[in-house]
Amino acid sequence: MSVPVVCTTIDEVRARLDAERGAGRTIGFVPTMGYLHDGHASLVRAARGECDVVVVSIFVNPLQFAPTEDLAAYPRDLERDLGVIAGAGGDVVFHPSVDEMYPHRVATTVSVAGVGERFEGASRPTHFAGVATVVAKLFAIVGPCRAYFGEKDFQQLCVVRRMAADLSLPVTVVGAPIVREPDGLAMSSRNVYLSDADRAAAPALYRALRAGRDLIVGGERDRARVEAAMASVVADEPLVELDYVAAVDAATLGSVDRLAGEVRLLIAGRVGRPRLLDNIGVTVPPG
Ligand code: PAJ
Repeated sequence: MSVPVVCTTIDEVRARLDAERGAGRTIGFVPTMGYLHDGHASLVRAARGECDVVVVSIFVNPLQFAPTEDLAAYPRDLERDLGVIAGAGGDVVFHPSVDEMYPHRVATTVSVAGVGERFEGASRPTHFAGVATVVAKLFAIVGPCRAYFGEKDFQQLCVVRRMAADLSLPVTVVGAPIVREPDGLAMSSRNVYLSDADRAAAPALYRALRAGRDLIVGGERDRARVEAAMASVVADEPLVELDYVAAVDAATLGSVDRLAGEVRLLIAGRVGRPRLLDNIGVTVPPG
């Protein structure tokens, strides 16, 4: 296990990765905001398995936080993160300052219509433009690569895929499965904000998703009934304040009244301080 090289400037990381590609090596890229857990590490390991050089970015992107959100309080621990990256096989860490990424007020932003508008886009109106803009910038800095994103943020993955396709970016976007705690809670940097009581209540989100999936697998095809069943699981847990539940087409995130094909069940809710997200895929059995 070797210590990753840390680059703090755009020029430095670009020169290093250009040299690697020039020598015929492929690049795997894992964008993160740091405070890494095993979900992030799984992306680094996936990249390690498929690419010659693995670069991880750590940048808490101010553009994707609304003024009322937790930017200043977002958890950070670079030393620990470097250990996680080394352990998972990362070679290069790109850790720029806010000034390095945004030396001027940003005039050019990327916004993705359609897939970015509902759910997280409705709850956090400026969020996905902030994500798409920083990811476009990171793709421009890293250059041609395979880029790994977790299905944990399923709508984000759809937004990034759509952006990369629409802008013909030389990046293959790869989605990777959600890593969970033993009781089913999806790992998240924000789980550190949960009190003991909230932590005990939080797996209700995953229980609701499983209840929805079980209904569909058992023959239910009516979207509204599946969504109502998921909401009622959460209603039994008073510490979870439900934001939305939805059963949508997995490719477009569009609504379908009769469920068919590949469906994604999405859920979001506030549990004490943090707002938590989760989702699960279901292949609707034919008939
Ligand atoms: P961050 O929340 O740090 O997440 C970085 C990547 O890790 C994302 O692709 C996310 O989906 C993935 N991830 C988080 N928890 C996971 C889990 N439990 N299992 C699998 N993957 C998981 O997402 C962001 O940062 C930012 O929006 C970013 C894309 C870096 C742009 O700023």
